[in-house]
Amino acid sequence: MTSSIEMQLNPYPWYAQMQAANPVVFSPSHDAYLVFGYEEVRQVFRDYQTFSSAVYHGLSEKLADAFENQLQGIDPPRHTKLRALVSHAFTQREIAELEPNFRAIAEQLADEMMKRQDPDFVRDFAVPYPIAVIAEMIGIPEEDLERFKYWSDVIVEISHRLLTGAEELPEHGNIFLEMSSYFEALIVERRRNPKNDLASRLAVAEIEGARLSDFDAANFCLILLVAGNETTTNLLANAVRTFAEHPDQWQLLRSNPSLVPQAIEEVLRFRAPVQLMMRVATQDAVVGGTTIEAGKRVILFMGAANRDPKKFDDPDTFTITRTASPHTSFGHGIHTCLGAPLARLESAIALEVLLQRVEQIRIAPTGDALQPLTAFNLLGLKRLALDFSNG
Ligand code: HEM
Repeated sequence: MTSSIEMQLNPYPWYAQMQAANPVVFSPSHDAYLVFGYEEVRQVFRDYQTFSSAVYHGLSEKLADAFENQLQGIDPPRHTKLRALVSHAFTQREIAELEPNFRAIAEQLADEMMKRQDPDFVRDFAVPYPIAVIAEMIGIPEEDLERFKYWSDVIVEISHRLLTGAEELPEHGNIFLEMSSYFEALIVERRRNPKNDLASRLAVAEIEGARLSDFDAANFCLILLVAGNETTTNLLANAVRTFAEHPDQWQLLRSNPSLVPQAIEEVLRFRAPVQLMMRVATQDAVVGGTTIEAGKRVILFMGAANRDPKKFDDPDTFTITRTASPHTSFGHGIHTCLGAPLARLESAIALEVLLQRVEQIRIAPTGDALQPLTAFNLLGLKRLALDFSNG
């Protein structure tokens, strides 16, 4: 894998080459098996007994507690219990109730962005919008919003460092403890004075007499920042980039806004915001004809799986009328993204708000208008400068 800007903006030619050669291959440089085929990626996701999610190791004590207890990083039976409890508090009905609030946030951000001399969709919309949505859901008081935004940035930085194997910064542990104690205090407060928000529902969630501990409830709020913010930012940035590059598809969507949900699924397939996930093999197993050895890490390339020609017709074509699009961008199996309904709703609102305001999406005609993210597991943009002159 190269790390050039071209590769970060478009890893797909490399995937196609690897996939055609072999859907599963051992890479000495990653000391891991790389999985590119659609069926093979799904097989590993499904088989949680052979492929464990406990991939975070070697962290400082302060971070280990939080990261090693995250829903994403634990296996059954603990995962089953914790997921059932938090799902109870994070239901589709409660998300849908907040739709008008999310729309108001999106409209305000879009209007402000379009008034700017130098609009950057990432800075002005795709970053602040999911943070504001999650803050609204959890029930973060107005006066704590700035602190909350700052923590969101720190969490992203920590996650990148964990994934790339870079050292933690000394201050990260302390900031993490600060966040954890903030959320624990919020949970304790909501248990005493419940409101209509996620923090209150987490505080009282109960299944067959079992409750979330204060630690687990607070940690789930942290997980939402890790799992829900940057991912949605990337989905939105990828959507706008892709529509700018396919103006016919934007016109099609403008003439038929009921295609918005399908369009979002196609963006998710075409440019998966999370390109890969990791697992560790607990025993030898055969996947796509290759034997994966016990103890080795396995990297699942969902970005490649979503363009597997064995699964999708004409996979490199972006077409919002594609009907069956069972992409792997939200994972598969017991760890399937818990926030998918929220991500879908948030991005549908964002697209609708843009459809009402923007006739043609145009990337600004400057050399640095499009800057890719450098995190190797994500496909997204750091900057997407737009040109709103002439509609
Ligand atoms: C486009 C946006 C998003 C993408 C692409 C995405 C992607 C994913 C993926 C691939 C997984 C599976 C992880 C695995 O198998 O190891 C996952 C899990 C998860 N996601 Fe998302 N996610 C998005 C948005 C969100 C949002 C908005 C939230 C919540 C606010 C969220 C919360 C979670 C949680 C809690 C899990 C862990 C589930 C479990 O382990 O049981 N995600 N996400």
